[in-house]
Amino acid sequence: MAFPKEFLWGGATAANQFEGGWNEGGKGLADTDVRTAGTVTEPRYVTYIDKDGNPGKANQFEKLPEGAHRAVLEGYNYPYHEAVDFYHHYKEDIALMAEMGFKVYRMSIAWTRIYPKGIEEEANQEGLDFYHRVFDELKKYGIEPLVTIFHYDMPLYLEETLGGWTNRELIDLFVKYATTLFKEYKGKVKYWLTFNEINSIMMMKNLFKGYPEENIKSDFVILHNQMVASAKAVKVAHEIDSNYMVGCMIAGGPSKYPLTSDPKDVLKVQQDLQETVYYASDVMVRGEYGYYCPRIWKKYNIDLNISEEDKEILRNGKVDMLTYSQYGSGCATTHEYTDKAGGNLDMGPKNPYLKYTDWGWSLDADAMQISLNEYYSRYQIPLMIVENGIGANDVLEEDGSIHDPYRIEYVRENVKSMAKAIEDGVNLIGYTMWGCIDLVSASTGEMKKRYGFVYVDKNNDGTGTLKRYRKDSFYWYKKCIESNGTDLD
Ligand code: BG6
Repeated sequence: MAFPKEFLWGGATAANQFEGGWNEGGKGLADTDVRTAGTVTEPRYVTYIDKDGNPGKANQFEKLPEGAHRAVLEGYNYPYHEAVDFYHHYKEDIALMAEMGFKVYRMSIAWTRIYPKGIEEEANQEGLDFYHRVFDELKKYGIEPLVTIFHYDMPLYLEETLGGWTNRELIDLFVKYATTLFKEYKGKVKYWLTFNEINSIMMMKNLFKGYPEENIKSDFVILHNQMVASAKAVKVAHEIDSNYMVGCMIAGGPSKYPLTSDPKDVLKVQQDLQETVYYASDVMVRGEYGYYCPRIWKKYNIDLNISEEDKEILRNGKVDMLTYSQYGSGCATTHEYTDKAGGNLDMGPKNPYLKYTDWGWSLDADAMQISLNEYYSRYQIPLMIVENGIGANDVLEEDGSIHDPYRIEYVRENVKSMAKAIEDGVNLIGYTMWGCIDLVSASTGEMKKRYGFVYVDKNNDGTGTLKRYRKDSFYWYKKCIESNGTDLD
């Protein structure tokens, strides 16, 4: 049997995409609350009011007009406001997770529930209490929480008044927020992740056409500040409870292939991985920037001017485990190509040996074994897959069933691949399937792109009863967990 007895099987969600209750319990406005719904072809927008009081909308990376401030406006669909309403359904949802046999549930905390603007002296008691109730409910079923402290949402106030993560003031505000969580939930939570997909910012310039030049420079600053904040938080966590296991969460594994056998393509893959993946994981696991970073800074004409104090902080805040999202693989080439793969991350050209989902994401279970081996040979610390899954257009039948053989197939092949990596000697401690209960897609803001083992009756336009239904994959995953990954039929 490949999987160790104590292997952490489970599922994952994030507060902004799952929780809803956007203006309840004293919660403040998050930057994600002003993002509209999109589709695979139509982008999501950020809504704002300009200095003369006129409403407007902008693309994610577009600069807002001078004097404008982001705001919730009448007549727009904001999918995160209600999401699938875990805020009011958490008991039912956790019972469903328990029925599948979850050992772990990866969730995130909304910063705005704890510090509504991010700057308050005292934490918001109602917000703290909500997560106490969630953790107590999980404990009832013996499910271990794995908590992401920052999963793509933050107080809008910090963006609007302090300019967000380019401002170093955010470092201590984040550490204060994290410290509150470490103290408050001591004894209830053991596993923590600081920032979700912290390195994804390094892929933005390749992902979006016309990505503004000035953003590239500030992206390096943002990432540095977040890594310093993370390192400080790791240190505080260990001081508060030496049993805490704190991890980094990296977007994508080192599973990128050269499109051709041209050595230039091989070199490109190596350098792409250094720039977009190892750039962050090396700092967080090893406590210092990689030897290759000066080359990258030179390429973009960046001078980060990193102080001795920051270097010391990074050295003292190494993570205990590396966790990452592993959906498929990407390719890179120095040759011309037209057929581009889809994905939230920079996936480059399509790979002729692979199939792709309706959203253009590659289907490649071998990438799991490859990335696990790559990471483990580099770091030799415990690894966890905290996101893996397939976004698909599921159909709710009249009798309430949902037949999703493609999801079973996807997870099965990935579980087999994890088993092979464990047999290779990789120390893999857990697996949380992304979007275990349907939630709102991060990239497109759709409901229709479903990931769950549980279907939620909610549509793209915001209508629906929010009723939960078990998909075929629900029963399959239950069996997979029960047999500790041996009965995969
Ligand atoms: C990851 C994010 O990049 O991919 C999740 O951490 C996200 O928040 C997931 O939901 C799947 O992407 P999408 O765009 O299909 O929701």
